[in-house]
Amino acid sequence: MGRRGRLRLAVLISGRGSNMLAVARACASGRLDAEITLVLSDHSDAAGLATASAQGLATRAIGAASREQFESAAAAAIDAASADLALLAGFMRVLSADFVTLYAGRLLNIHPSLLPSHKGLHTHRRALRAGDREHGASVHFVTAELDGGPVICQVRVPVLPADTEQSLAARVLTQEHRLYPFAVDLIAAGRLELRGSSILLDGRELQAPLEIETDENS
Ligand code: GRF
Repeated sequence: MGRRGRLRLAVLISGRGSNMLAVARACASGRLDAEITLVLSDHSDAAGLATASAQGLATRAIGAASREQFESAAAAAIDAASADLALLAGFMRVLSADFVTLYAGRLLNIHPSLLPSHKGLHTHRRALRAGDREHGASVHFVTAELDGGPVICQVRVPVLPADTEQSLAARVLTQEHRLYPFAVDLIAAGRLELRGSSILLDGRELQAPLEIETDENS
């Protein structure tokens, strides 16, 4: 990546921003050697913007009408923040192939399922309806295919007999808050990168997503 100093992050949110906050806290505590230089939202009333401001982070809302307008303003803001990496964290717009190509290898997303299962929306409901015994979350590099880019890491969460969509979502979210900092840390440490369509970890191609253990029972 040829960067000097700490990894600089732009975090793109559309709503609550709890994953953004988890990454911000990991940075602030020193667990993650990175800094958030911009929190950007496509909704000026996103709750996560107030959360970010309360953490002393720079925020920006871009409520542009068209996708082209939004993406050119977003790219300008990300670049002005000198971000090495952009993190999608509950960001609900589908980005164009041009935008994704511009940030190839520097754009991550967190998705609440064990990809490739349950791409798209309502993942918890679909996991319950499918009778899945395990569910979870994934962090992946973003490509033009929705929720389809190379997966860096995952966390598995057991589906409990009494689970509702809400209880399962809450338990997965708790684990997401551990998973995103884990993925970013590997990149901050210079250990992990995207090369073409392969992920290299310590110079070797990753054959399967890394897994972190759930800390549900601890
Ligand atoms: C998370 O479940 C994330 O995986 C999904 O959207 C949700 C965002 O939550 N993409 P938050 O805004 O980070 O609290």
